[in-house]
This record gives sequence, C-alpha cells and structure tokens, in this order.
Amino acid sequence: MSKVSVVLGCFYGDEGKGRTTDYLAQTADMSIRATGGNNAGHTVTIDNVKYALHLVPSGILSNHTIAVIGNGVVIDPKVLIEEINMLKENGIKVDEYLKISDKAHLILPYHCMLDALLEDKRTNKIGTTKRGIGPCYCDKFERSGLRVEDLYKSNFKELLKEQIDKKNELFAANGYDKCNFKEIYKSYTEYAKVLKPYVCDTINLIHQALKDDKNVVCEGAQATLLDIDFGSYPYVTSSNPTIGGILTGTGLSHKDIGDVYGVIKAYSSRVGEGPYVTELTDETGDLIRELGHEYGTTTKRPRRCGWLDLVALNYSIKLNGITYINLNHLDTIGKLDKFKVCYAYEFEGQETYDFTTNEEFLRNSKPLYKEFEGNFGDISNCRTFDELPINAKKYINYIEEYTGCTVKLIGVGADRECMIIR
Ligand code: IMP
Repeated sequence: MSKVSVVLGCFYGDEGKGRTTDYLAQTADMSIRATGGNNAGHTVTIDNVKYALHLVPSGILSNHTIAVIGNGVVIDPKVLIEEINMLKENGIKVDEYLKISDKAHLILPYHCMLDALLEDKRTNKIGTTKRGIGPCYCDKFERSGLRVEDLYKSNFKELLKEQIDKKNELFAANGYDKCNFKEIYKSYTEYAKVLKPYVCDTINLIHQALKDDKNVVCEGAQATLLDIDFGSYPYVTSSNPTIGGILTGTGLSHKDIGDVYGVIKAYSSRVGEGPYVTELTDETGDLIRELGHEYGTTTKRPRRCGWLDLVALNYSIKLNGITYINLNHLDTIGKLDKFKVCYAYEFEGQETYDFTTNEEFLRNSKPLYKEFEGNFGDISNCRTFDELPINAKKYINYIEEYTGCTVKLIGVGADRECMIIR
C-alpha cells in the first residue's frame, strides 16, 4: 500500500501549491483535489503557456496522471466545463484522466447571488470571491445541497425546483431578482451531459490506487489561515483547507497520509480582508507585489503583501503535521537589497512565539523582525542548494533552524523547471 503525499498552503493562499503538485505529479499516477471550489486559482507555466486552473487538479497537466475532483469540492459546472475545454484545446488528455466525485456538491446560480447579497449586507466585509462558495457549503451542511449524482436522478427537476423555490422566497422578501428555474434546469441538464463521462465513485477509485501501490498526490486549495476552524475567522473561506479537510474531502484515512508539503513564499500575501501581522502597507509592500506579480488568479485583485511570518508558519506546521517545506519566490525576495522575516510577536509588552487566531491578538501584535541581505542576482538557473548565493543559503538555513523542518523544494523562477529539489 502506498501513502499519499499532500500539498498544503501554510498562510493565506497563493503560495504556489499548484506548482508543487505539478512537480510531484510528474511522477504521480493520481492527483486529487479535496476542498474548496473555483475560489482557488493555481497558475502553472509550462513551455511558456500559463495555465490558470480553478477546479481541475494541476496534476492533469502532466498528461499521464489521473486527476480527481474529490467529494469535498464544490463544483460550479459552468466553470468546470470551461476549464475542461481550455485544457483540451491545449492538448491535455482530459477525457482519459479527469474523474469527478459523484458526491461533490454543485454550486448553483443562487449560491453566487447569495454570496454577493450577504457580502453586501456585512458591516465587516470578508472580501469573498463571490463564487458562491460559502452559500454552497451552507446548503451542504444544512442538507439541502445538490450533489453531482443528483444531476442524473430521475427526480432532478423536482429536487432543483424545491431548492429554487426556497431561495426565491428569500430573494423576493429582500427585493432581489428571482432565479429563473427553467433557465437553470435547462443549463444544468446540459452540463450533466457534458460531465457524465467523468463522474464516478472517487472514494473507491482512490483506495484502489493505494492498494495498487500507485503514487498519489493530494493538492490542497486555499490555506491554513483561511481554514473555517483554524484560520482568522470570520475572514476565512468556508471549508477546511488543512489536513482534516484532505481526509473528509477524499475519503482517505489518517493512515494513508505520507509526506505533507507545506508551501510558503519567501515573503507573504493575503487577498481579502482580515488581520495580517506582517503586512507592509508602504512602498516595500507595493514593490513586492510588482516583483512577485501578486494579483489574484481568480479575481485579479491586488494582493496585500508583507514579510514571511515564522510564528504563523510554526502554527501551520503543528496543525498539519508538515514534514517538508516548499519555499517559492526565492528569486523575488532576492531582488531586494535587504528583507525581513518575523521571528516573534510582541503582544501587550510580551514577546510571544505562539500564534493564535484571536482577532484582538492578531490586530494588536507587533511583528519582531530579523533582517537579511538580499541582492541574490539571477538564481533562476540554480538547480542545487550549493549553487545558491550565500545570502540565499543563510535565509533558508534560518527557516530550517527556526521550524525544525527541511526546506525540500525551492522555487527560483516562474517556469516549471526553475526549482531546486533537495
Ligand atoms: P470565499 O472562499 O470566496 O468565501 O472567500 C473568503 C476569503 O478567502 C476571502 O478573503 C478570499 O479572498 C479568500 N480566498 C478564497 N480562496 C482563496 C484562494 O484560493 N487564495 C487566496 N485567498 C482565497
């Protein structure tokens, strides 16, 4: 029996998980996505083609890896079909390799409408992606969600009607436009036909792959500090992007988990609202945003940028049982003359090394920094740790000493091959 390698984001998302998975998937037989929906965006550049994936696991790009959309994912079928078409146009063998869980929940147009409506009414905005993620998970847990398998039931029309009628009552009471049942029914029956060949029971499929000793990778979406339980609630997403979500979103057991790769950038970023201790609201933050092209893959929003936070990283390592760190954008941070890393917080006059997501703590903590020398020069051709300049090595050594975790993969440029593997 083989074990699953898991790739998780350690901070607020956009750490470059797609790239790590793409690297692992080059030798993987199966790549799985467990949570979230098209609020996620993974960009992978191969042979100068930039693939922006929102739902399909980036393992599909290797053209020999089965790509599974697990039961924990919420699927907007329109977006998924667009993505399938884009991949096919680029020669990716989707028909051979894509598998969609029959138990994944469907995002319907009313979920997106509700997402916008609820965000509009919030005094403290979350800054959601407005992709209907939260309302879809609400329906799932309230047990009025529609799953992929429902599309193929003889009473799908009635099931859909019941949900739309309920939502329309709510929209009418608030003076909002109603959903058009006929239109939604028509489009979802069309989507059902297109998706049918990919739909299956992914739980048994995944376990069979492990039994057959296949190499399986699980691709996290979003990240630890956006977790509904362990993130900076309420400024979080509506799923568990931590290790627990990987289990419930796939049907894997804890015994199936092998290496857990925690992905970080050499600096940090956040999209949307919420506390962010190491944020830089000055020109250095703007410079990092430009150097790292920190604009959302999904919403194109400029990302908030700041220094790497090792206090938060240790929290992530602890929660997820991270065995290896994947550090991305080392080249980006190396373009600065000097840069900093947060080694402790000062809260109410006390130095602390323990991260908690208490909002008051996060809003009032002052980051304490250690400064490093930058100016790494062009490191995009480095393929071993030894080839890196001394300043880059010092930074990596410090992260390893602080966390007790090996930095195994190091991103030194945007292209697929710009990676050091130790
Ligand atoms: P939602 O997931 O659309 O409900 O958004 C909730 C919060 O999570 C917002 O602050 C989003 O910007 C953030 N978020 C959701 N998905 C991602 C992601 O993939 N990367 C970064 N931030 C995300």
